[in-house]
Amino acid sequence: MNRMKFDTLCVHGGRKTYDNTGSIVTPIFQTATFARGSVGGGTGYDYSRLQNPTREQLELRIAALDGGCDALAFSSGMAAISVLMEMFETGGHLIISDDLYGGTLRFFNNVSEKKGLSFSELSETEDLEKLIRINTKAVFIETPTNPMMKTFDLKKISEITRRRGLMLIVDNTFLTPYFQRPIDLGADAVVYSGTKYLAGHNDTLAGFLVVNNAELSEKLRFLYKTTGSCLSPLDSWLVLRGLKTLHLRMERQNNSAQRIAEFLYRHPNVEKALYPGIGGMISFYVKDEALARASLEKLNLIYFAESLGGVETLITYPMTQTHADIPCADRERKGINGKLLRISVGIEDPDDIISDLNEALKG
Ligand SMILES: Cc1ncc(COP(=O)(O)O)c(C=O)c1O
Repeated sequence: MNRMKFDTLCVHGGRKTYDNTGSIVTPIFQTATFARGSVGGGTGYDYSRLQNPTREQLELRIAALDGGCDALAFSSGMAAISVLMEMFETGGHLIISDDLYGGTLRFFNNVSEKKGLSFSELSETEDLEKLIRINTKAVFIETPTNPMMKTFDLKKISEITRRRGLMLIVDNTFLTPYFQRPIDLGADAVVYSGTKYLAGHNDTLAGFLVVNNAELSEKLRFLYKTTGSCLSPLDSWLVLRGLKTLHLRMERQNNSAQRIAEFLYRHPNVEKALYPGIGGMISFYVKDEALARASLEKLNLIYFAESLGGVETLITYPMTQTHADIPCADRERKGINGKLLRISVGIEDPDDIISDLNEALKG
């Protein structure tokens, strides 16, 4: 068969049959363990922390969507990141994008640094080479970043990481493989908060690591079974269901976001809108903090809630939510202040979202 197109992969990628009923939907194998017929015998499934058929189908689909050789499904995006960080030994140095999801930064600052890892922040693609040290092991990039929507040139970065023998890790939560396939651009590992666009319905937490080679897969599979932060069968099933419409949702959210970004660019009470021109996420500064706080209370349709990427439009106040644990001075330096709001555009009619925002921004 020809290589399937992306939209087909969302529905059929890595398809496997697990029973003989003809069911076209993978069952939820809600079991902790699997019986063995004999010593040394077995079905290939031993215990659900290691393998579970529902989760396996999901992992095969994600690997197919991202063009990876393996994908591991975790109980959250942070669980995926924390297992990935177990790969690095004391004394290692990582280069990270200078704007990151607050929870990732909290992990690096409070868990990884205690273990003896150190970090340098990259603000421009061009500065990468200068930051590399003798003990640098990896580069960890979000693009676009959360919440400042900065972008990095993954192709250029991967040329350098390949040449210098460093691992390139990309958190692709915002764009998903529908808009950006980091492995095709030279990344070694891709991180996802599957809670967001991949699951897409604001109803479950999930995380993924996708890798481009068998050696990395083996190392991570060992850490995976040892740490036990795997995704449950039911949650795996929910993400599998969500993925079937990933392409439709991404298209719609992208189109609506373009219109909403236009509206925000022109709004007199919006000082600046940050939209990378692709995807469903927009950050924007309103004219003062009082308006930011008041507008959050005035919204009717849009939920004032943490998270992103689901079918419902959500608005977040990074200063008190996603980035609340970042020291105040660091937050200010990064531009995360009381005037900044972040919107995750859902699949509603964009006119309704615009009119809700318009009312709220009147001040
Ligand atoms: C870019 C990014 N990476 C990772 C995470 C963490 O994922 P989770 O909340 O599923 O643990 C988030 C959560 O908001 C995120 O936005």
